[in-house]
Amino acid sequence: MNITVIGTGYVGLVTGACFAHIGLNVTCADIDKGKIDALNAGRIPIYEPELEEIVRASHKQGRLDFTTDVPAAVKGADAVFIAVGTPSMADGRPDLTAVIAVARTIAPALDPETVVVVKSTVPVGSGAYVERVLRETAPDAVFSMASNPEFLREGCAVQDFLNPDRIVVGVGDCHARDVMTAIYAPFGQDGVPVVVTNIPTAELIKYAANAFLAAKVAYINEMANLCDAVGADVDQLSRAIGLDERIGPAFLKPGPGYGGSCFPKDTLALTALAHEADCPVRIVEAVISSNTYHIRRLVSRIEAEFAAAWTERGYGDTKLHGKTVALLGLAFKSNTDDIRSAASLVIVPHLLRRGARIRAYDPAAMDNARALMPELDYCESEADVLAGADAALLLTEWPQFKELDWPELASSMAAPVLFDLRNLYAPSTMAEMGLAYFSLGRPAATEEALFSAR
Ligand SMILES: NC(=O)c1ccc[n+]([C@@H]2O[C@H](COP(=O)([O-])OP(=O)(O)OC[C@H]3O[C@@H](n4cnc5c(N)ncnc54)[C@H](O)[C@@H]3O)[C@@H](O)[C@H]2O)c1
Repeated sequence: MNITVIGTGYVGLVTGACFAHIGLNVTCADIDKGKIDALNAGRIPIYEPELEEIVRASHKQGRLDFTTDVPAAVKGADAVFIAVGTPSMADGRPDLTAVIAVARTIAPALDPETVVVVKSTVPVGSGAYVERVLRETAPDAVFSMASNPEFLREGCAVQDFLNPDRIVVGVGDCHARDVMTAIYAPFGQDGVPVVVTNIPTAELIKYAANAFLAAKVAYINEMANLCDAVGADVDQLSRAIGLDERIGPAFLKPGPGYGGSCFPKDTLALTALAHEADCPVRIVEAVISSNTYHIRRLVSRIEAEFAAAWTERGYGDTKLHGKTVALLGLAFKSNTDDIRSAASLVIVPHLLRRGARIRAYDPAAMDNARALMPELDYCESEADVLAGADAALLLTEWPQFKELDWPELASSMAAPVLFDLRNLYAPSTMAEMGLAYFSLGRPAATEEALFSAR
């Protein structure tokens, strides 16, 4: 089968590469010449584990091509997947400009019987809108419509795409159903449930799933704050509630609030859609406001904890002004270079306004961060960023941060103060190493107090 994927970002490139990996012939098209030139030269424009290997292998075997010529790319395709960005507009609704631009570009070039598949996350009714644009642009075109929302997570996108929990396909007619079922047949044979439904339902499933996951994140963050307030331990709480199979353990780790390119945008889009339908989703509205409040509250807490730690260590002046704060991690999560809606984008401006000097290190996201936060001092390594710092903030749960030699690193800091927004370390271990250590929902040394008291 011949597949075209339009948009070679986090979703489009992974989709194209994985389809080629399972044996389909794929052309990936993008209007960004820099990206396409890089891909044709064997370079991957984003950081995503395992992607480079499968792109290289399929490209070499002739099953994966890259082009900026979008109309030519759709010629001879059985299915054209639209995977361009749908960022939030000021009113929370997603901006469909890129999706519609693609529809206008491909309409005159579609071969009869091609299935146009919207993979971008779009509100209910967008499939019908894209179909209308295609028909207006090329009244004689013969095509079918489908929706195929994507559920991969950045950082493990290849594995998620190749081993999904389920595949959701919305179809406009029998031909679309047959083509989509054939494309995903290898997954179905491996036992992956393929949910075939109508297009509006498929469109809504994506938002409903992301809003539910965002709710879990917001919920555990509120529980972590409550644990801090009442002396309970969120790690144990999270484990215990996650063992209930009606709840499940995923997305029950406290942090700086959900970020990234999906949850913030998709929760806003769902509330906007619900308002238009005069059917408000109060729970999702509460999730958004909880998440916004959480990060703001954290910013104040960071400042207060740093001041308390500096007082304890005899610093005369405990204001952030003039202090050097080291950031460990900038990406919105580990294993990605994506900083869209990352906590760093909220925390850094606040620290800068307070007059702090900020040094930062992230294993993959520094190029993207530099473009948005040029005023930071970007460092080469964890040791480099921490040396001489008055305090450190761990923002991203990169696996290598777990392995750091803290006794050594702490001794290189002006003051060994660490606020860990990902609960990567045990409070008791960090205290033993002499750090003033703060984390979320884990009052210092609760466990020891409990088990050593007799
Ligand atoms: N990133 C994720 O984790 C994720 C997961 C699931 C779903 N989604 C959804 O998938 C869609 C794409 O997200 P992304 O993160 O891959 O975006 P992205 O910004 O990484 O990539 C979008 C790509 O589309 C290209 N593009 C824009 N206009 C174009 C046009 N007219 N013709 C051809 N190419 C064009 C851009 O150059 C860019 O390379 C969004 O709707 C997003 O909500 C994203």
